[in-house]
Amino acid sequence: MQEELKIPRHVAIIMDGNGRWAKAQGKPRTFGHTEGAKRVADVTRAAGEIGIEYVTLYAFSTENWSRTAEEVGALMKLFRSYLKTCTKDADENNMRIRVIGERSALDPDIQEAIREVEEHTASYDRVTLTLAINYGGRDELRRAVRNIAKEVSDGKLTPDDIDQDLISAHLDAPDIPDPDLLIRTCGEQRISNFLLWEIAYSELYFTDVAWPDFGPEELKKAVEAYTHRDRRFGGVKNS
Ligand code: FPP
Repeated sequence: MQEELKIPRHVAIIMDGNGRWAKAQGKPRTFGHTEGAKRVADVTRAAGEIGIEYVTLYAFSTENWSRTAEEVGALMKLFRSYLKTCTKDADENNMRIRVIGERSALDPDIQEAIREVEEHTASYDRVTLTLAINYGGRDELRRAVRNIAKEVSDGKLTPDDIDQDLISAHLDAPDIPDPDLLIRTCGEQRISNFLLWEIAYSELYFTDVAWPDFGPEELKKAVEAYTHRDRRFGGVKNS
């Protein structure tokens, strides 16, 4: 008999290994990103089918600007192209698309494409895909702290009003529940500044499979592993 899967409500993914995957085939790193971009639609569609409500993907970190101009340019081109074509997928799959991160540093046409996609998909509610672009967990917290400080200096808040809920409310996507499961592909076992506040109690899943090879079957394996996890939130288990 097939075991019943416990479905995480929110899955966050560090899509790692595009460069190594391409290099192993004697191809340029950018080829790995192009193939990796194709997995975004496959994996989000599969997530919706399994019943995962939220998928958050680490597409470009605040540290990724230090890559060569060629690689940064290739990634920006892929974001442009994805943002232009994803509405068809979104329409078909009732998928809402959002972006977290400091978008003001992105080219104006990318900012405009983000605005349009977010507006076009705002009422869709089967699955929400959040793309983290120019995102860093520390930078998200820095921006939240700065906004809270402004509200204190404007007299809208007092320091005593600052509790965990207030901090969460000042993050980039305060209405999205924290990830239940964080996946990182291609072997490395670190967080790399992704969703630092939000993953406090997430289950972690690391796989050696590189992102361009991570399809629906690999997602299912991660959900199977999650099914066997005994989730704790710091309390004592009731049994
Ligand atoms: C990490 O692999 C991956 C990235 C820095 C970029 C992720 C982007 C994509 C998957 C493509 C575009 C996405 C969208 C949403 C259209 P790496 O290059 O650091 O791999 P390496 O560790 O093997 O060098």
